[in-house]
Amino acid sequence: MDKISWNRREFLSSTALGAALVPILYGCGKGAHAAASTSGKLEALRRNGVQDPNCEWCGARDVPDDVRWKTKLVKDGDAGERMIVEGTVFDPDGVTPAPDILVYIYHTDSEGIYGRKGEHRHGKYRGWMLTGEDGKYSFYTIRPEPYPNRRDPAHVHMTITGLDRKEDWVDSIMFEGDPLLEPRNISEKKGGFRNVIKLTKDSEGILRGTRNLILPEK
Ligand SMILES: [Fe+2]
Repeated sequence: MDKISWNRREFLSSTALGAALVPILYGCGKGAHAAASTSGKLEALRRNGVQDPNCEWCGARDVPDDVRWKTKLVKDGDAGERMIVEGTVFDPDGVTPAPDILVYIYHTDSEGIYGRKGEHRHGKYRGWMLTGEDGKYSFYTIRPEPYPNRRDPAHVHMTITGLDRKEDWVDSIMFEGDPLLEPRNISEKKGGFRNVIKLTKDSEGILRGTRNLILPEK
């Protein structure tokens, strides 16, 4: 794990959850991924997040009320190469898509930095996704840069949380071709698939890659 200084209290949303169990439908039209996100589910996911305020890697407890199966972290004007990573979360059998899994990710900015002054410790590139029936998640961001003056490859941290699963980290996403990659960085231990992914530039110049995950046995 990286060492990140604790520069302010963890942000906890003070927004009251709606009392009514109102499903929110995401996406529309053929092929859209619909997921019903309810306040009850979110409460359970927050409870299953790590609650230790000194935890350096966790973030499920901060999931916002409007979480969807995909998220966009990059804003117009941000420096850095645009990148979309998507994947499917599978049950431990490695075949059945897993719904209602909260995927939390965070990574460094275009200079290899996490939280700057006034930001959350994980910085501005942090996000949450909640899988629907198809188990899919997707995030649109920038390709992170390695830490300054260190030898760690560029990476995206990930945690997964379920309605009956405590938040846990999985192997960070890393990228083929990264000159800082060493054999010790490559893993299939936590996450079920190889953590080093291939990025391919699409017709719009956006880097795209896939990181599927397999949930561990309980
Ligand atoms: Fe890191």
